[in-house]
Amino acid sequence: MPLHGLSLLNRFFTLTMILGIALLPSLAQSGGEAHPWTNSSLSPDERASMVVKEMTLDEKISLLHGTGMAGLSPMSPLAVHSNGGAGFLVGIPRLGIPPIQMSDAAYGVRSSGENGRYSTALPADVAAAASWDLDAAHEYGALIGRELRAQGYNMSLGGGINLTREPRDGRTFEYLGEDPVLAGKLVGSVMKGLQAEHVVGDIKHYALNDQESGRNAVNVNVDKRAARESDLLAFEIGLQESDAAAVMCSYNRVNGDYACENKYLLTDLLKKDWNFKGFVLSDWGGTHSAEKASAAGLDHEEPGWIFFGDELKKAVESGKVPAAEVDEHVHRILRSMFATGVIDDPPRKSVVDVVGGFEVAQKIEEQSIVLLKNDHAQLPLDASKIHSIAVIGPHADVGMISGGGSAQVDPPGGNAIMPPGKGQSHWQEKIWFPTSPLKSIRGRARAATVQFDSGADPAAAAALAKNADVAIVFVYQWESEGMDLDSLSLPEHQDELIAKVAAANPHTVVVIESGSPVTMPWVDQVSAVLEAWYAGSRGAEAVANVIFGDVNPSAKLPITFPKSEADLPHPTVVKPPKVTTDADHQGWKRIAAGLPAFQVTYDEGVKVGYKWYDAENKAVLFPFGYGLSYTTYSYSNLKVTPGKNPRVSFTVTNTGNQAGAEVAEVYASLPAAAAEPPKRLVGWSKVKLNAGESKEVAVEIDPKYLSIFNVERNGWQLLPGEYGFMAGGSSQNLPLKETVSLK
Ligand code: BGC
Repeated sequence: MPLHGLSLLNRFFTLTMILGIALLPSLAQSGGEAHPWTNSSLSPDERASMVVKEMTLDEKISLLHGTGMAGLSPMSPLAVHSNGGAGFLVGIPRLGIPPIQMSDAAYGVRSSGENGRYSTALPADVAAAASWDLDAAHEYGALIGRELRAQGYNMSLGGGINLTREPRDGRTFEYLGEDPVLAGKLVGSVMKGLQAEHVVGDIKHYALNDQESGRNAVNVNVDKRAARESDLLAFEIGLQESDAAAVMCSYNRVNGDYACENKYLLTDLLKKDWNFKGFVLSDWGGTHSAEKASAAGLDHEEPGWIFFGDELKKAVESGKVPAAEVDEHVHRILRSMFATGVIDDPPRKSVVDVVGGFEVAQKIEEQSIVLLKNDHAQLPLDASKIHSIAVIGPHADVGMISGGGSAQVDPPGGNAIMPPGKGQSHWQEKIWFPTSPLKSIRGRARAATVQFDSGADPAAAAALAKNADVAIVFVYQWESEGMDLDSLSLPEHQDELIAKVAAANPHTVVVIESGSPVTMPWVDQVSAVLEAWYAGSRGAEAVANVIFGDVNPSAKLPITFPKSEADLPHPTVVKPPKVTTDADHQGWKRIAAGLPAFQVTYDEGVKVGYKWYDAENKAVLFPFGYGLSYTTYSYSNLKVTPGKNPRVSFTVTNTGNQAGAEVAEVYASLPAAAAEPPKRLVGWSKVKLNAGESKEVAVEIDPKYLSIFNVERNGWQLLPGEYGFMAGGSSQNLPLKETVSLK
């Protein structure tokens, strides 16, 4: 019988039969007595241990897998109790353990459209990274936490921090840039904000899932030291900063083993070295075995129970999997629920604070827009002096683009480029949010004539631009989970469009909506460039505030913009060999069995992002850490105080004539014996300064950020020798430098 044909009564009996439990009334109590683990003064571990002791094997197994997802696994009848998110873990009502309702929530809560709900779309994660602002990241997590709870969820599946090793990765927008310290600290803040709302936080995709092409088959070959100092360091820092309660292992293989059955990653590193107390869940369809995965440290299979259901149960009964191993998986899940407060303070559905969400989304976008070029102070525009503006570009009259895949947030009213009411989101469809650049520019320049051209015919757009005081061209590059970009060039002849408009009007401003860097063959012809990323629910208002100077830009690039793809470590993204797929809907069976591996070798090692361009002496278009402001800053008085946590202090002065915020960055070079790239980011501080004001900035440096990973000793090692400490406004503008000896 199809699930939707089940009557409510039938569902009740099905659930009761399957779990062998009475559903009501014993949610938190039995026989009127509170369960002893409801005592919140006990530690999460004590509480979890008490529950585990009471559980039957069936109940334990029921916590170790989801209830299925069409197209990826069989479905359980219990799935009818899902809140409509990607994952649903039935609780144990008999023992007062509620379900875990999981939703994707990379830049906002997913699937609100099909569930008849509303979610705020924040600027993409990579945009939040461009703010370099730990408070903004905290607010980002808190907003997602609040909206998850309001929609009935108690676990988030956001928290992506795969480093941008390959900027053509279609999920670059979901991640936090190319530097492990920046990404790790930011994700830590997002998790703290989220978990403070009593939602289980999750960091993903662990690990080295740095390309989408062939993600279920690819074997990533990477040297251990390089991995520890780059991609894995981002996770290490994120977990150290936040106690995130869950980690999602990724689809790919790493050095031979699937990430979700990789003992080195899951047990040796995550659970032992890093002392991670939470639970590991597989990416959707990323589990490939019962015994091996369980022994390696996977705690929970999603979305179904191909391996962690009957198969795992039988393995326990036959002694192939020790009962204690299953107890540990269960303990970790329960412990995480107690620790994050989802048992003591379950979510209560309510109306999402739409207006509050708009404010947060706009504020974060205003801190995330990077001013890349501003010749002759083209920006900000003075609304009182401008008579005519040409707004040009695909859909710039109605909306701004968003990132796709499981991160996709549904826009209110549907896709802005579809007729009203027809805008349901479909997988990998380009979704435009109803935040109109044209309208917000018109709203700001009320005395000016503001005209629009879509740019479909570049000659017509250029003709409009020719007669305007300023031309503002909105261009985009869309990306999504499940695909990689063929190149970093703007698609759909947008390079030609910009070049033609710029040739017609010397005051051309380009606003880029992208999740990855783009190449800019026209950069010398235009007067200003803004990187607005995927700008979220209130992107257009934020962009207009920057264009007209109500907001002074302060963001810095969290990823390098190369001059061309030819400068990347790999000429192309390695594609999987063609695998013939079954014509039926059971493709997941072949994925679960394990697709034949193809190889990707990260021989650039630790040289991710700016470390690659620095080490290889390649000039870039815009460097990591770069971003202009409407004011200027100077740096002076560098002092380095060695010690366990070396302290770097210096003065930053606002030398211009308006207030601003400067991201002051600190880099270090290691002794020659370390054989590391020329420099690495070791800290930063975002300083607010009025015109003419100076402040002393002090950055304390975690010795790990100055260390190398010594594989023989299996530990971090600070090599004795000369360390260079540099401070300034970008990875390529570091006016202050001092060398000190560290022991
Ligand atoms: C994605 C995850 C996501 C999961 C559930 C997978 O395809 O890789 O990031 O959380 O689906 O939707």
